[in-house]
Amino acid sequence: MKNLILTAILAAGLVSTSCQQQGAVPVKEDTTAKMQWFEDAKLGIFIHWGIYAVDGVGESWSFHNGQISHEDYMAQAKRFTASNYDPAAWADLIAASGARYTVITSKHHDGVALWDTKADDKSLVKMSPAARDLLTPFAEAVRARGVKLGLYYSLLDWSHPDYPNIYRNGPARYDIAAEPKRWQSFLDFDMLQLKELQDAYRPDLWWFDGDWEQSAETWKAKELTDSLRTWNPACIINSRIQGYGDYGTPEVGVPVVRPEDRYWELCYTINDSWGFQHKDLNFKDFNMILRTFVDCISGGGNLLLDIGPREDGTIPQEEVDVLRRLGQWIGKHAEAVYGTRAGIPDQHVKAYTTLNSTGDILYIYLPYKPLGTVQVKGLLDHIKNIRVVGSSLAPSWKIFNKQSWNDIPGLLEISVPEEALDPDMTVLAIEMDGPVQVYRGSGQVITFNE
Ligand code: GLC
Repeated sequence: MKNLILTAILAAGLVSTSCQQQGAVPVKEDTTAKMQWFEDAKLGIFIHWGIYAVDGVGESWSFHNGQISHEDYMAQAKRFTASNYDPAAWADLIAASGARYTVITSKHHDGVALWDTKADDKSLVKMSPAARDLLTPFAEAVRARGVKLGLYYSLLDWSHPDYPNIYRNGPARYDIAAEPKRWQSFLDFDMLQLKELQDAYRPDLWWFDGDWEQSAETWKAKELTDSLRTWNPACIINSRIQGYGDYGTPEVGVPVVRPEDRYWELCYTINDSWGFQHKDLNFKDFNMILRTFVDCISGGGNLLLDIGPREDGTIPQEEVDVLRRLGQWIGKHAEAVYGTRAGIPDQHVKAYTTLNSTGDILYIYLPYKPLGTVQVKGLLDHIKNIRVVGSSLAPSWKIFNKQSWNDIPGLLEISVPEEALDPDMTVLAIEMDGPVQVYRGSGQVITFNE
């Protein structure tokens, strides 16, 4: 019997890391303590803001892929105004969404910095009528609301004269192997910018991107991450640095199978674009986003939900609405969001599940309105109580089919009062008298009967 029992809380804590880089395998330190806030946070808000919002073209990729010339792309900077930019309102919205952290594009692959970089002249401070550092007031506003700050930074910079390429299919500027000093000067430039960001903002999280064009050795990923961790041992680094980060970042595609990474975060768009695009009206509705969010947390991950402000700093209403409604739902169901861990295997109940951090409460999220009872199979040990989260109305429940001649748990049937149903997603809390354990066998033939 024992080998058929899975103590779910232990299973959720299994450490496993994936490493894509070739050559030396990075040594994984025990990051449990430093990852705690991230693992508990569950929701982050991603912000893609840059000159691409002016004409609503794809961030950086539009010139890289040849849809627009590099010159026309960069010329958007002249019309980037930030004229209605209200960092306090952005921070209010992020806090109201229930997010505990935010990640903003300090510099995308186009190389245009949102802060007053001294490393080169490519910043909105120098290139645009906004003519000011846009990052500092945002960093201050989010921190004042207790929201952790993450900085997105593109390692590659297709606009930089010392980066080896600019266009996907165009000629390379140079060959790294033939001009190692030139490549080193680019790495020095990245390090200079990262140090500026560190000194000015002390980010809680580094969100790298663009690592795929070079190997870990070429990026000197070990030296780079060692520096970041020397500057701030508590910083968290995403995985996009060729195997040297702390957590996985599946993108847009919602994981079907729980990712191998102990810590992970799905980055996700509300429509089909990261940055603002006038023509993209393919917004997902709130319930779709909510399900995706709960899907992530049931697999032990976070959701990093993206918004794309316009060039003037206003945020599309559809995105504002999704964030506000998410915040309302999370506010009502806070105990079933923050600090939860991955749930039990899918076969036990036709719904999403998570566990609380001590493992003795099983949360069940009902994505559909139940037409009858909610059935849960294979729950071992004793149920102390069952509640509907955010409601004072008690569900009734009963266990059927428990046989005295074997140890297989009976079938739990929960009846949820109609008035207790949440209009978006109802959450049940099953309180057990110890860590949740589940039976994972396929039944047993009779050995005796009464
Ligand atoms: C991709 C893209 C980029 C976007 C990012 C967000 O890697 O290069 O445009 O910023 O994903 O996850």
